[in-house]
Amino acid sequence: MLTIYGNVFYKGRIVECGIEVENGVIVDIGKDKKGKKVDGIIMPAGIDVHVHFRDFKESYKETVESGSLSALYGGVCLVVDQPNTNPPIVDEDIYFRRMEIAKRMSYVDYSLNLGLVEDNVDEIDEILRKIEEKHYIPAIGEVFLRGKMSVRYETLEKAKKTVNKLITVHAEDPNEDDDVNAEVKAVERCLSIGKFHFCHISTAKALDMIYNTDSTSEVTPHHLIYSKEVVKLKVNPSLKSNEDRVALVRNFHKADILASDHAPHTLEEKWEGAPGFPGVETLYPMFFYMAKRGYIKISDLVEKFVINPAKIFGFDRYGGIEVGNYANFAVFDPHSEKPIRARDLHSKVGWTIYEGLMAVFPKEVYMRGEKVLEDGEILIDRGFGKVL
Ligand code: DOR
Ligand code: ZN
Repeated sequence: MLTIYGNVFYKGRIVECGIEVENGVIVDIGKDKKGKKVDGIIMPAGIDVHVHFRDFKESYKETVESGSLSALYGGVCLVVDQPNTNPPIVDEDIYFRRMEIAKRMSYVDYSLNLGLVEDNVDEIDEILRKIEEKHYIPAIGEVFLRGKMSVRYETLEKAKKTVNKLITVHAEDPNEDDDVNAEVKAVERCLSIGKFHFCHISTAKALDMIYNTDSTSEVTPHHLIYSKEVVKLKVNPSLKSNEDRVALVRNFHKADILASDHAPHTLEEKWEGAPGFPGVETLYPMFFYMAKRGYIKISDLVEKFVINPAKIFGFDRYGGIEVGNYANFAVFDPHSEKPIRARDLHSKVGWTIYEGLMAVFPKEVYMRGEKVLEDGEILIDRGFGKVL
């Protein structure tokens, strides 16, 4: 039995108490549980449900190894990787191949979404059955409605009818040129089909449409922080006008999940217009800093980056610091704020759009009760993460 004692984010606020851990799981929490005092604020570790760790033919820009290391430095203990790899994750063989890589290489716990394309929709339940036979628990997504891996709404509807699974959608209508309308239109159409999880919502209007339905929404740091007037680099969905961005920020409380959409590309590819930004390592540090400054509520941050991700994706034993959950913590020293520098980050790509913004990086990270990071040093080997 191990007891971790200190200032803990517990049931919506910070209290001084001890956390008893047995076999990686929290078995008791209380003021009388004394143990070795941890300095700083003991927060639940983050869950980033939207990352692109590439690998395969795109290993030059990110791998499960480099991406998950970056996640760990950012206080994230569990990621959900996306299937638009090269080759893409659209059948059970490639799904298993990737999981084998993750088992050997991932520093943090790892889950993988299965891709939905026109070519696999008729077998999608069969593919899922084979994957679940091996006790993996995939969601389907991020389903594209535009571009290379896109499906028609009819195909999405067919999948919805055949499988009873969380489906995450990249909602951009293929026939609408205006980007704001494209998102609103796609969300409207999908809501008429059924329940979905909507990735990276970039407009207040779409967020509002999803709010109070049984569908769920996700927002990203880049859509909250930057507008198209300020950052000219490409991302899908696009950055919107500053007016739209401000509206999104004002409606942040309506979003269910905060996720990075960590989408690494080399600088060379960026100059050629490749869409997406790395972000798995900077999300929690930037938002912890914002909470510390009072720009957002710390309880909102935990709800959207820890509790709701676990709940919506059905990750048992993950979530807040509660009896029965894994002892996964990120410890932040609120006095150690510093500007983000690309050279300090661990993604392969070596650049960030958040250069110079202030952040508080975790000084310690615990996974299942074990200290895995301390003062910038990793205390475990790759492969420590569990695949789910
Ligand atoms: O900007 C983006 N980049 N949006 C996506 O939907 C895909 C992602 C990527 O994989 O690079
Ligand atoms: Zn994505």
